[in-house]
Amino acid sequence: MRKIVILTGAGISAQSGLGTFRDAGGLWQTHRLEDLATPEGFARDPDLVLGFYDDRRAQAAQAAPNAAHLALARLQRDWPGQVVLVTQNVDDLHERGGSPEVLHMHGALAGALCAACGHRWSAPGRMREVRACPACGTEAARPDVVWFGEMPYHMDAILGHLTQADVFAAIGTSGEVYPAAGFVRVAAEAGAHTVELNLEPSAVASDFTEALFGPATQVVPAWVDRLLRNG
Ligand code: APR
Repeated sequence: MRKIVILTGAGISAQSGLGTFRDAGGLWQTHRLEDLATPEGFARDPDLVLGFYDDRRAQAAQAAPNAAHLALARLQRDWPGQVVLVTQNVDDLHERGGSPEVLHMHGALAGALCAACGHRWSAPGRMREVRACPACGTEAARPDVVWFGEMPYHMDAILGHLTQADVFAAIGTSGEVYPAAGFVRVAAEAGAHTVELNLEPSAVASDFTEALFGPATQVVPAWVDRLLRNG
């Protein structure tokens, strides 16, 4: 049975009320990513960075999974073949929407990491006031998210899945950030049918065979229904 590999971006969580990055009013339109999403920014002002991710963790906790998250969980449950879900998002809406396995290639707000010893633990609601690492005691706790200039997580597994994909779908991502934006070419070279589900054409729209434009809460459930109906 056909293997489906899915990549999601901030656009899938937009209708749950979580900000995207490059849309009008997006996080990188109102904040400087150099200060908030780089190791250098963290070294310069850890309190500013921890506070920024504390706010995003609180917003994510207040948000609810939307019909697009629920539809992907239904696909993972009902599709007779393998479905691999990769996300660039650091929120937990896929998990709370019922997805059993999610590869967070940019890490997750739910995780904490010690910049000194590499220890990982579940992040408390707010990290700004709790800087000490529970393992080594150094005041070096950071969110376990992947910043610009750092290596994304699970890349070997993801590339392996892409080379075996029969269908590759990108949902709610602008195609501006690599390596995620290059996944469609890896899948296409392996012979996958590629489809982009987005509000508007992404920066790599021309790499896709098929496009379904519209809000994720409409186009994703319709796409899942069609897959489950037609196989
Ligand atoms: N439904 C579908 N797509 C939407 C919706 C919606 N309701 N709202 C916005 N979009 C689309 C936008 O058109 C845009 O193409 O989602 C995309 C969001 O793009 P970005 O804001 O660039 O988010 P993303 O692609 O996930 O960014 C990738 O950049 O800053 C880093 O680490 C960060 O993971 C992030 C990465």
